[in-house]
Amino acid sequence: MPNTSRSRTKELMLFAGNFLRHPRMLGSIIPSSRYLVDQVLQPIVWERAHVIVEYGPGVGTFTAEILRRMRPDAHLVAIETNSDFVRFLRASLPDPRLHVVQESAAEVQSVLRRLGLAPARYIISGIPLGSMPEPVRADIAGKTRAALEPGGAFLVYQFTARALPSLQRAFGYVERGFERRNFPPAQLFVCAADAI
Ligand SMILES: C[S@@+](CC[C@H](N)C(=O)[O-])C[C@H]1O[C@@H](n2cnc3c(N)ncnc32)[C@H](O)[C@@H]1O
Repeated sequence: MPNTSRSRTKELMLFAGNFLRHPRMLGSIIPSSRYLVDQVLQPIVWERAHVIVEYGPGVGTFTAEILRRMRPDAHLVAIETNSDFVRFLRASLPDPRLHVVQESAAEVQSVLRRLGLAPARYIISGIPLGSMPEPVRADIAGKTRAALEPGGAFLVYQFTARALPSLQRAFGYVERGFERRNFPPAQLFVCAADAI
């Protein structure tokens, strides 16, 4: 897929500028590293993934790699609250499989319904669940579980383990990982109804 208007410098400047304005919403001054992207996406069985959702794509570090790896007939729904990032993603990733939606992750079920898509096989999340009030975090975790198809998984990366209890309450199975080569080092959680 052509990727004409993506420049690393532009991505870094847009991300850092938005971090200065909304530090709690972003959680990091630079986008995720290649190491983190690879580790978070590692559990995905791409042939089975017809609908994938990403929460908080930012400048599209995960988005571009998901598009590169996913099936030609799959859909990727990127849900982002920040209008600068939404505009940037729409302009820089012109792929008909990508749906960029300006909404909160809490609206995942209505977003999928509006797009006429089935429940997701995977939902990938980098939104700062740990800095949200517990009821908001619990609400997103519960709605995420309801938006997954049977056998689906919620793949989460965070800079703290604060969201772990909410994830454990919403999902029967949570496996933990760690990526120390990211800045900041990241906690990973693979969440599913049952062991995967
Ligand atoms: C840590 S940044 C991750 C950006 C990118 N995925 C990466 O890994 O480089 C968190 C992103 O989540 C977005 N965000 C925060 N709360 C959100 C919410 N409730 N729903 C959707 N996106 C949200 C922020 O605007 C930001 O783009």
